[in-house]
Amino acid sequence: MTTLSAYISLDTTSRSIGADEVAALLQASAVQHGTSVSLTRTGTRGLFWLEPMIEFDTDAGRVAFGPLDPGDVRAVSTVISPKGELNTEHPAYLGLLDEVPEFAGQLRHTYSRVGVTDPLSLAQYRAHHGYEGLQRALSMNSDDIVEEIANSGLRGRGGAAFPTGIKMRTVAAQNDTQKYIVCNADEGDSGTFADRIIMEGDPFLLIEGMTIAGVACGATQGYIYVRSEYPQAITLLNKALATAYEHQLLGENVMASGKQFDLEVRKAAGAYICGEETSLLESLEGKRGLVRFKPPLPAIEGLFGKPTLINNVVSLVSMPEIVRLGADSYHALGVERSRGTLTVQLAGNVKKGGLFEVPFGTALRDVIEQFGGGTLTGRPVKAVQIGGPLGAFVPPAHFDMPLDYEAFAARGAMIGHGGMVVFDDTADMGEMARFSMEFCAIESCGKCTPCRIGAVRGTEVIDKIRRGEEVDAHRILLRDLCNTMVDGSLCALGGMAPFPVLSVMDHFEEEL
Ligand SMILES: Cc1cc2nc3c(=O)[nH]c(=O)nc-3n(C[C@H](O)[C@H](O)[C@H](O)COP(=O)(O)O)c2cc1C
Ligand code: SF4
Repeated sequence: MTTLSAYISLDTTSRSIGADEVAALLQASAVQHGTSVSLTRTGTRGLFWLEPMIEFDTDAGRVAFGPLDPGDVRAVSTVISPKGELNTEHPAYLGLLDEVPEFAGQLRHTYSRVGVTDPLSLAQYRAHHGYEGLQRALSMNSDDIVEEIANSGLRGRGGAAFPTGIKMRTVAAQNDTQKYIVCNADEGDSGTFADRIIMEGDPFLLIEGMTIAGVACGATQGYIYVRSEYPQAITLLNKALATAYEHQLLGENVMASGKQFDLEVRKAAGAYICGEETSLLESLEGKRGLVRFKPPLPAIEGLFGKPTLINNVVSLVSMPEIVRLGADSYHALGVERSRGTLTVQLAGNVKKGGLFEVPFGTALRDVIEQFGGGTLTGRPVKAVQIGGPLGAFVPPAHFDMPLDYEAFAARGAMIGHGGMVVFDDTADMGEMARFSMEFCAIESCGKCTPCRIGAVRGTEVIDKIRRGEEVDAHRILLRDLCNTMVDGSLCALGGMAPFPVLSVMDHFEEEL
């Protein structure tokens, strides 16, 4: 009896649209056809419009079938022909996955294992270069590891794009017996799921990245602060942590190096502001998520007053490949001061939503049109909100911008965490502006006046404009208020909430 090797995603999105049911149907149909299927549950390839998808090993590579309707038993059972072979005549047959244009057009660098391996198999992780980065790091001195990260040009992927090497250098330079590595996995921005996909699809990569950061900075304890709405990521991370401890990849004597690094998962408090780094530290200490004044920087006085490196998931998971292959390999990708790859996440009214890893410098238009395929409704794209709820609404006239932090900033926009939410021409941009201000009013931690009071007044002023009350005067007032919030807020929630509002006033003037 032939055995077919099959792969189905276990990520939250795929499961929410029937991946588990498709897996069960596949096994049942194999039995009927006298075939056996060796099924591996992997992370997702990020091609959500093709999920639930089944991949099979062939001599030429992995071929795929998708999307498969879990309610359509016949569709799933006919993926395997009565002879026990793959049915390449099946309407959902996609051919070689590597040749699906939206996959072939990417550069899977940091996300190369996601969708390929069993996320909890340490053996498979190792077979795909896993732990080679840490192995090399342990043979280097800590300054050299930090310089490798600095020379790669890696910038923080959590939003502010601060150079990761500089932050690491500051923590490494602190002379303290206790230092911490904190992973910001709160992932609160609208339309973002890159952190979740890596935690569910390649959890050892985050563990390895944080261990490298610990060795480089001289930190012996790490915490992963995970969004509470990600129960599956929490479960998988905890299982991977247990395996890493079992194999001395964590603990008192990491890879027999004599170095210690311990790691724990912490469930987040469920507030947008708890993603802001100082608020996150308060929350980790068991307090209310209230923003701290800076200075002191967390790199000098962070968690429990100790030097702390706090980085986003994608920043940390970029480290093993940088150390394994050397800084130049990463620096060679990208443009100007934006090096390496960006994991773009497409959501909203888009035909082909999902995650796409591309080098910086790729044109925004290619992302939205070639990868995203335009809107799901088939209507023209009106705007794309990029960088989460504090990001500007970018009009099609600016779609020729390359993915480059500075190029975006020059147009009053930001890349942030790489989340893009697409809107078609039926969107009411005045309503979107109002929503942005109201979001800030609701999520404000309340510590500073421009944000706490400004966002409430801002929402009221927008309502007056929308009701047609003294429109010109209120537009002037709104801009003035936005500028006060930008200049006077303590953190980026109040400091950036005006950006979407201002972008609507600038690009969709007649709607607000
Ligand atoms: C209101 C607010 C929410 C934030 N939410 C997140 C988040 O969910 N995840 C994240 O990585 N960074 C978030 N940030 C950015 C963090 O404060 C910080 O810059 C980041 O964790 C640093 O890591 P990086 O240098 O690797 O980007 C947020 C910032 C603000 C102001
Ligand atoms: S800007 Fe808003 S969220 Fe940030 S510290 Fe001030 S009140 Fe808190």
